[in-house]
Amino acid sequence: MCGIIGYAGYRDVVSTILQGLTNLEYRGYDSAGIALQDNGEIKIYKTLGKLVNLKNELEKKKTEFEHPTMGIGHIRWATHGSPSLVNAHPHTCTCGKLVVVHNGIIENYKELREELINKGCKFRSQTDTETIAHLIAEEYSKTKDLEAAVRNSVKKLQGAYAICVMHKNAPDIIVGARKHAPMLIGIGEGENFIASDTPAIIEYTKKAVYLDDNQIAVVTKNNVKITDTNGNEIKKKIEILPWESMSLSKMGYKHFMLKEINEQPDVIRNNLSGKLFDIDAPVNLKEVKLDKAALKKLNKIEIIACGTSLHAAMVGKYIIEDFAGISVEVEASSEYIYRKTTTDASTLVVGVSQSGETADTITAIKQAKKKGAKILIITNRPDSNMARLADSLIPVNAGIEVSVAATKSYTAQLISFYLLAIHLAEVKESLDKSTLRNLKHELIQLPYKIEEILSDTTKIQECAKNFSSYKNFIYIARGVNLPTALEGALKLKEISYINATGYAAGELKHGPIAMLDETMPVLSVMIPGGITYEKVLSNSEEAKARNAKLIALTSSTDKALYNLFDAVLKIPKVSEILSPVITCVPLQLLAYYIAEFLGKDVDQPRNLAKSVTVE
Ligand code: AGP
Repeated sequence: MCGIIGYAGYRDVVSTILQGLTNLEYRGYDSAGIALQDNGEIKIYKTLGKLVNLKNELEKKKTEFEHPTMGIGHIRWATHGSPSLVNAHPHTCTCGKLVVVHNGIIENYKELREELINKGCKFRSQTDTETIAHLIAEEYSKTKDLEAAVRNSVKKLQGAYAICVMHKNAPDIIVGARKHAPMLIGIGEGENFIASDTPAIIEYTKKAVYLDDNQIAVVTKNNVKITDTNGNEIKKKIEILPWESMSLSKMGYKHFMLKEINEQPDVIRNNLSGKLFDIDAPVNLKEVKLDKAALKKLNKIEIIACGTSLHAAMVGKYIIEDFAGISVEVEASSEYIYRKTTTDASTLVVGVSQSGETADTITAIKQAKKKGAKILIITNRPDSNMARLADSLIPVNAGIEVSVAATKSYTAQLISFYLLAIHLAEVKESLDKSTLRNLKHELIQLPYKIEEILSDTTKIQECAKNFSSYKNFIYIARGVNLPTALEGALKLKEISYINATGYAAGELKHGPIAMLDETMPVLSVMIPGGITYEKVLSNSEEAKARNAKLIALTSSTDKALYNLFDAVLKIPKVSEILSPVITCVPLQLLAYYIAEFLGKDVDQPRNLAKSVTVE
């Protein structure tokens, strides 16, 4: 979603801010802007579209600024008001001396705007953010103290914000503040940073302080001061950031998505290491802080998540119920929030999120916490807001995921669910020893099977080329692979903009079959030896009878399949129960190659953001 970087220090301010924004680009945005403190003036530059436009604009206008000493930059993903220059950040007060960039949504902006207009403020945009600029400027006119002005103003804001503020008359300081939106301060030598996320600053420093809600930071090039809303200074721990700047490089791949798909074998190994190394020993999931007695009694789990993480959660439900016999409900966070749930102190609520910043999931988790539930968070960002709400935390260790379409974080989430389900089964003694040994043995083998798929993608590329002109797709599967069908269809939609829908194969005949003809390819996920193979095969035959073109994703070696299916995407032999970790990979690749073939912006698809921080 939106991204912020503020910089005060000895480096070239413009290029440092532009690089920081470039590192946040993957989050998705529609416009960008920068404000510079330069020679006693505030200078603002904004452009629509990609960051390269802002870079070109600044290059063109570089004679307009002399030696900027500080600056704030922003990439915007429109919420209030269309993507336009006037709505792009930074926003200013009426006289233009104060500038602000903002992530989040101010819920009471309409009331505030009206009050400020009545006081004579001149609004130029349709954004909620501009209200913040006028509000702080109004306070500043009373106190002439930017820190105090920010402090007094944020008390009046309802909603979510991470803001960075500069004022012409306070040329040495940037003031940051946050509530329900992430913000961190990067600490350097003779330089300091404010950012909405780690990648913005990782090239410059690994030392950071995370702001908490209702905290205010005053940053100069040599100093950082953090206070609460009453002005009391807070001493905060300096943390070492868990990322390498190298992870932001494509490492020779054409797109981050392709790089991240190819990283999956190592991500799985990484995720298993230290947790599963001996198939005769119990999995070591010390991250789950519930004691054995509590786990033994546990009979209700709720998993909440969005998008791809929701699909991982659906696999989680299937295997926890299968391995441990515990009843599991899975729900989209945005739906959980708006109903009277039966969550109580005996419920284990699991939040799943790549980013750990998804607003719907954070709100749902907070709601569950209020009801007394124990909270387990499965995330790729142990440094996130969601992670901070956890009683127990399973970091999925996928490394930073840059492409908007989640791939490696999905397989990493799946592995975490397999480990959790086995752990629960071991505590509950619900599976016999040989089943547990077999499961663990095969789990350890999964990275090799993915490597086999990745070593030759010719058939997938061929299939992508042959099917790239279709406008609609149906993906079908049953059982533990139903989420695979949903996830495969989501991947295709996200990056190629082709309409693809995943269905439980058995549901096809209850309605969707009416849509089938030669224009609607059907992709079937079928694992021989599993309990759903024959049924999905006959559902595929039903589709063939309606002239649909068929694609099989299967480990079957049955030659007869080639008579029925127009394309067969082969995967290595795998048991059905573990197969979702494998079946997702060719579907990620199929979506990737179709989008690539169609010339789409694979890593930054239109309208999407990497982390969705609004409800
Ligand atoms: C995945 O490809 C999507 N971009 C999206 O559905 C994503 O999974 C969803 O927004 C949830 O994000 P989270 O995992 O960071 O909470």
